[in-house]
Amino acid sequence: MLDLKMIPILLLSIFTSTQAYSSGAPEKVCYTMMPNHGGGILPQDSDPPFSITAQPNNLGMLVTIHTPEFPFEGFLLQGRTPRGDIVGTFDPIENFAKTMNCAGTSDNSLTHTSPNQKEDLKIQWHPKDYVGPLVFNATIAQRYDTFWLGVQSQQLQAARPKITSNTTPNYKVAEKPEASAEFDPFYEGCGTKKSCFGAPEACVQSKNCKAVVAITVYGGRYEFELKADKSASWVGVGLSEDAKMGDDSVVECVKDRNGGVKAYMSWTSPRPNLGVSRPREQKGIQMLSSSIEDGVIYCRVQRDAVTTVNNRLFDLINNKYILLVAAGKSVESNRVGFHDVAYIAGAEAKSLSDVSEIAAASKILLRLHGAFMLTAWIGTASVGMLLARYFRQTWVGSQMCGKDLWFAWHRFFMVLTWALTTVGFIVIFVELKAWSSESNPHAILGLITTILCFIQPIGAYFRPHPGTSKRPIFNWAHWFGGNAAHIIGIVAIFFAVELNKAELPTWMYWILVAYVVLHVATHFLLSILGCAAERSAERRVTSFPMKDLAGSGRTSTYSDSNADAPLSFVRKILLVVYLFILIVIVVILIFIIVVAPVEEYWEKVKSAMQTSDNT
Ligand SMILES: *[C@@H]1O[C@H](CO)[C@@H](O)[C@H](O)[C@H]1NC(C)=O
Repeated sequence: MLDLKMIPILLLSIFTSTQAYSSGAPEKVCYTMMPNHGGGILPQDSDPPFSITAQPNNLGMLVTIHTPEFPFEGFLLQGRTPRGDIVGTFDPIENFAKTMNCAGTSDNSLTHTSPNQKEDLKIQWHPKDYVGPLVFNATIAQRYDTFWLGVQSQQLQAARPKITSNTTPNYKVAEKPEASAEFDPFYEGCGTKKSCFGAPEACVQSKNCKAVVAITVYGGRYEFELKADKSASWVGVGLSEDAKMGDDSVVECVKDRNGGVKAYMSWTSPRPNLGVSRPREQKGIQMLSSSIEDGVIYCRVQRDAVTTVNNRLFDLINNKYILLVAAGKSVESNRVGFHDVAYIAGAEAKSLSDVSEIAAASKILLRLHGAFMLTAWIGTASVGMLLARYFRQTWVGSQMCGKDLWFAWHRFFMVLTWALTTVGFIVIFVELKAWSSESNPHAILGLITTILCFIQPIGAYFRPHPGTSKRPIFNWAHWFGGNAAHIIGIVAIFFAVELNKAELPTWMYWILVAYVVLHVATHFLLSILGCAAERSAERRVTSFPMKDLAGSGRTSTYSDSNADAPLSFVRKILLVVYLFILIVIVVILIFIIVVAPVEEYWEKVKSAMQTSDNT
């Protein structure tokens, strides 16, 4: 279960990504001017339907990108010497274009910021200190898979400007510099021209989806663009009527053995035989273009507006659908494997031609379930059970509400465990509305834990009086039920890390292991202390051997029942240390669950810090 390889990889990726940010745009993009998606998708080799001209003015040059035929979406523009050195600076254009820093010089490149279609864009260029021959060179993208490289102006002559502004414009740091380096036109037009939806949540805004779909509607023609993380071998979009997998029509793009991409229509069968199947006869879709570059799969597929799949009518024009987007690593001969790279379901059914942001279904209940169950089984149950087991002879004499202190606290923690577990259990059923579809023992283990946990207080309420003959049976049963629930609960939490829906990092195992070590070590130390206490007590009072659980508990052990057992000070110290570490562990775990996926949360925090550094 513990994937040791993950740790160094994780550390490495944190380190290298920090480096990449601090150096700004990668020089690869600066000099090749290839979009991020280039390589697999080749630039067009036809004559570009755009041209670049420049007019000298008081400040330097006014550069124009002419669009006689089509508008364009994305671009990267530089002033260069004929040898290819990047010279001069650009002014950003509000809502359209921002500057980039190439080769350590600020503002010497210009790229788009907005998805708007651009026509005849005018741009101000400053020579700065450069005097000499000059060419404007651009990559211009009409759409994701259609772009031209090396769109150049005629050779010009840069001269010293007539007016120089000494003040640096204060709108320079408009956006995150690293975002511009991406230059990924897939996301251009999302929310304005096409509906985009992807996993993880909110990734369309940050342009880093692991699986994403963009739907563009041209009259009655429905185009689906799909793209996934490089770890994925397939990416698909399902049209669902109920936001759950099952009875959905799926368009999927799959990497094939020859390094190409194939598009299929497939069908998800409903519970209990949840799965996907691909009809032999494929109709209703048509691949328009596709690519694999740096392992990243992309495809553009046209789907008929009205299709009948498995005797169900899918009418994209008149019906509303909930989008499911998924990607996975494995592909079988005639179907795709589990969606282990990403999965997300839309919050509500929408007409596909309605171009607006698609919100993800909220994960708040999932997070609450995790936080409640963790607090219950790693937090309160551990403490409550430790108190019952080792602290019956501590704080002897002090009482709370007429009960011994250990008992009052034991009851408090266990009732809390019970309440948290009950709420956590209800919450997860409200969220999933069904049994978990993932093939993971988490659900069944959780159910056993919840049932045991539910029985415990009922048994405790009807417990026989101390001293009666049935009392030892209760003691054993109560001990057994509690410990079984605890152990199974902890195992269930271990299995939760693997759950796809939970989006937890693999290194969370280490924190869980730390908890197990802490808990077992504390048990061990307290047991040793118990033996030591027993021995010194025997020296004092030889008549009663100390029995822990087998006897009838607190009443049987000491003749002198008004005094703490020996070594109780050490026990208290140990408890305090245990509590302290336990609280730290629980807080970290809850944090991981609440912000999950935590890696992305870090990325966000880092880039937020980056932006505040820059301003
Ligand atoms: C303009 O860009 C293209 C493509 O990267 C490149 O081949 C060409 O050499 C560039 N021209 C100059 C003057 O740098």
